[in-house]
Amino acid sequence: MTERASLSQKISAIAESATLKVDAKAKALKAEGRPVISYAAGEPDFATPAHVVDAAREALEDPANFRYSPAAGLPALRKAVAEKTLRDSGLAVEPNQVVVTNGGKQAVYQAFQVILNPGDEVLLPSPYWTTYPEAIQLADGTPVAVFADADADYKVTVAQLEAARTDKTKAIVFVSPSNPTGSVYTPEETEEIAHWALEHGVWILTDEIYQNLTYDGVRAVSIVEAVPEVADQTILLNGVAKTYAMTGWRVGWMVGPVAAMKAAANLQSHLTSNVNNIAQYAAIAA
Ligand SMILES: Cc1ncc(COP(=O)(O)O)c(C=O)c1O
Repeated sequence: MTERASLSQKISAIAESATLKVDAKAKALKAEGRPVISYAAGEPDFATPAHVVDAAREALEDPANFRYSPAAGLPALRKAVAEKTLRDSGLAVEPNQVVVTNGGKQAVYQAFQVILNPGDEVLLPSPYWTTYPEAIQLADGTPVAVFADADADYKVTVAQLEAARTDKTKAIVFVSPSNPTGSVYTPEETEEIAHWALEHGVWILTDEIYQNLTYDGVRAVSIVEAVPEVADQTILLNGVAKTYAMTGWRVGWMVGPVAAMKAAANLQSHLTSNVNNIAQYAAIAA
């Protein structure tokens, strides 16, 4: 290949999503009739509830939904997300603090784009979901893995975070319940990490996509519920995929401080514009 026809170094360095690769392989084998149980993508094994599908069908009847809508999301969905955030994450937010995205994955990407400058470091508790380091690097940041093993129930401590912190540390990724380990931080552990982030002015990206999928009566307490003072430096990521069995509908969202959400909406207005209106109406019903 000649120099002029070469590809971007940044994009060439991205690894394909291992989760989606294995998932596609499992689905192909299943289509061949092989008895495959896939542990690849996190996907509920039941269909989207009927009332959600009905809402989408109804939305298809309204020609208004065949047109562009606001990039940050339909006002009714932004309001519904604000209500869910208060209900499940204990944080009161206004609809203008919500940006509706094409799945939680776009929210992850946009969050790093909005807060990182070249060379900024992001503390990433490991084992982690494969998208985080790629999304960090796409925003010119540097992922810094902080490993916690089975003896630690795969949960990092403040002492570990402090040991990994440098003057370039800009953010920490907090995922509870965690993908891939399933670990849920206790309210006390969550509080400690929140206080550490508060003390050092570190952004928190809290990925709450598995928030409603806990077992044995465990409740995953949101980091903004544990310590509300961190809300001004926290971006919450969530979506309908896992909780409502809607992985293919591609509706997620990000919630955070107004300036950060305005920046995310500006980015999205050039990247993808609004999320599919029919899927947004389905999400409102969910
Ligand atoms: C931890 C985590 N966050 C975010 C996502 C993104 O979900 P989606 O883009 O399907 O809404 C996933 C999907 O597997 C995930 O595992």
